[in-house]
Amino acid sequence: MPKIKLNAKGNITLTGLMGSGKSTIGRHLAYVLNKDFIDTDEEIENREGKSINEIFKDKGEKHFRKLEQELIKEVCQLSNIVMSLGGGAIIDEENRKLIKRNSSLVTLIADPQELYDRVKRRKNRPLLKGGDQLETLHKLWEERKPAYMDSHLQIKTGDKSINLIAREIMKFFGFRKPKIKEFEVMVPSAEHRYKILYRDLNKIDITSLKAGPNVLIVSQSNIAKKYLAEIKDQLSTEYKVHSMEIADGEEAKNFITYQLIIQKLLSLNFERKDTIIALGGGVVGDTAGFAASTYYRGINYVQIPTTLLSMIDSSVGGKTAVNVPEGKNLIGTFYQPNMVHIDSYCLRSLPEREYKSGLGEMVKYALLGMEWDHLIGDSFFEHLINNADAIVNKDHDVLNEIIDHCLRIKSGIVAQDEKEKGIRAYLNLGHTFGHAIEELTQYKRYSHGEAVAMGIISACYLSEELGYFKEKYTSQIKGLMDKLELNYTIPKDLKAKDLIDAFKYDKKVEAGKTRFIIPKSNIGRVEIVSKVDDAALKAAIERNRA
Ligand SMILES: NC(=O)c1ccc[n+]([C@@H]2O[C@H](COP(=O)([O-])OP(=O)(O)OC[C@H]3O[C@@H](n4cnc5c(N)ncnc54)[C@H](O)[C@@H]3O)[C@@H](O)[C@H]2O)c1
Repeated sequence: MPKIKLNAKGNITLTGLMGSGKSTIGRHLAYVLNKDFIDTDEEIENREGKSINEIFKDKGEKHFRKLEQELIKEVCQLSNIVMSLGGGAIIDEENRKLIKRNSSLVTLIADPQELYDRVKRRKNRPLLKGGDQLETLHKLWEERKPAYMDSHLQIKTGDKSINLIAREIMKFFGFRKPKIKEFEVMVPSAEHRYKILYRDLNKIDITSLKAGPNVLIVSQSNIAKKYLAEIKDQLSTEYKVHSMEIADGEEAKNFITYQLIIQKLLSLNFERKDTIIALGGGVVGDTAGFAASTYYRGINYVQIPTTLLSMIDSSVGGKTAVNVPEGKNLIGTFYQPNMVHIDSYCLRSLPEREYKSGLGEMVKYALLGMEWDHLIGDSFFEHLINNADAIVNKDHDVLNEIIDHCLRIKSGIVAQDEKEKGIRAYLNLGHTFGHAIEELTQYKRYSHGEAVAMGIISACYLSEELGYFKEKYTSQIKGLMDKLELNYTIPKDLKAKDLIDAFKYDKKVEAGKTRFIIPKSNIGRVEIVSKVDDAALKAAIERNRA
């Protein structure tokens, strides 16, 4: 395909018949290329406070076309925009000329029968009202074809994925995907928004926090040996930087470690505006976070996650915790960090087993995050399958993209339900089984992620037992875990009865019933179930044996 000269403003406009995918592909392109997205129909509806149907009914199509033309003129003044047009906008020659001068214009072409299958149940298409809809689509296509063909690029969508179509558009116009740098997490009840920054560890900068003079970096010995000096050197130009190491392993996530951190803060006279930096995996992050949230009722707190699990999960979302003999994570707070700084090159020094442990959580996101698929442009599950080798080999760019996607799912969920009153519980997919496995093996035999991988497949079997999930999906998920070289079977010495007993101590117990998060209907959606009888649990566990 020829590469045509880019329009100076970097705008892209998508046109095509209704249902051709303009909005979905537009949103994805805007996300990938870091541009703003405008859907003209949606924007007009928002401005008028009425649906397109109502505008057509109250003031007629002519009025709507006038609003549309005004909006197009407005958008054409802007730069770095992806605009998705209503299907008829491009018929007007003046609109077309203006757009082609200010934007790269792409027509998405789909077969009318295919379009009909997609739009037949939607009631928001005024031009499809009454009569034979398929015939109307054929007629609209014939009428509009000359205008649609007068674009810079025409793409037949067929059964191509969003990702593929977006890539064709980017290649044709020479748009390059920028490297992922940062995004902002918005949590409604937090006092602040906070940034997730993807930067090398030698580019740590916390000045935007306007913090007090003292910084305490909490870490563990093997992490400190590799990364502490570099971070300390940078921060020492502006802050009094102190550091401490806590013990390694899940058993270190306890009140004694918490107390040691608090005593250190007290001895250094830390004040409210001073900062704790958690440099490490989930154990360091959860324990240092708990200390940060309780010392003086909350001081600044920065996460520098160094394990895959903490990069894609524990560093974002604000759950802090310590374990007690009665169970894991039973004591904790919701306390959002002020900043999260991720450098996935750290994963190169992570022991292989710990890396694998994070992969289990990665699969989890693919099973619950269908709503966010448009950001990655594919089904995230398919994306993981297609990139499994690169993931196993720790390909930096592939990993950054995946870490970013997982965190967008996580922060999207947390933004809707920070305190886990509803959908945040979805993030616990596989965890009720996982925690019980960790508990029965005294947190020694399996890492958290290894136990979660077993939990995810057990939850799939449970869903099958309850009639919500098809065996073929469980097999596909097992297939992905095999590609990622993850074990998911529960060893025989962990008796079903003991696991079922351990479920009763899980945090997800409500009114005496343990809640389970299970995949439902297809890959990408989950559901909470609470009335599960022991027979179904036993069957699920027994089916997940080697
Ligand atoms: N807060 C949350 O939302 C949340 C979510 C998921 C899990 N968690 C918690 O996270 C914990 C597990 O975290 P984890 O899997 O990161 O384990 P971890 O923190 O125990 O780290 C695993 C091991 O890797 C070492 N390590 C870490 N980074 C390294 C690096 N770059 N190079 C070399 N060695 C490195 C650590 O010292 C440790 O020995 C559990 O306690 C779990 O409950 C919390």
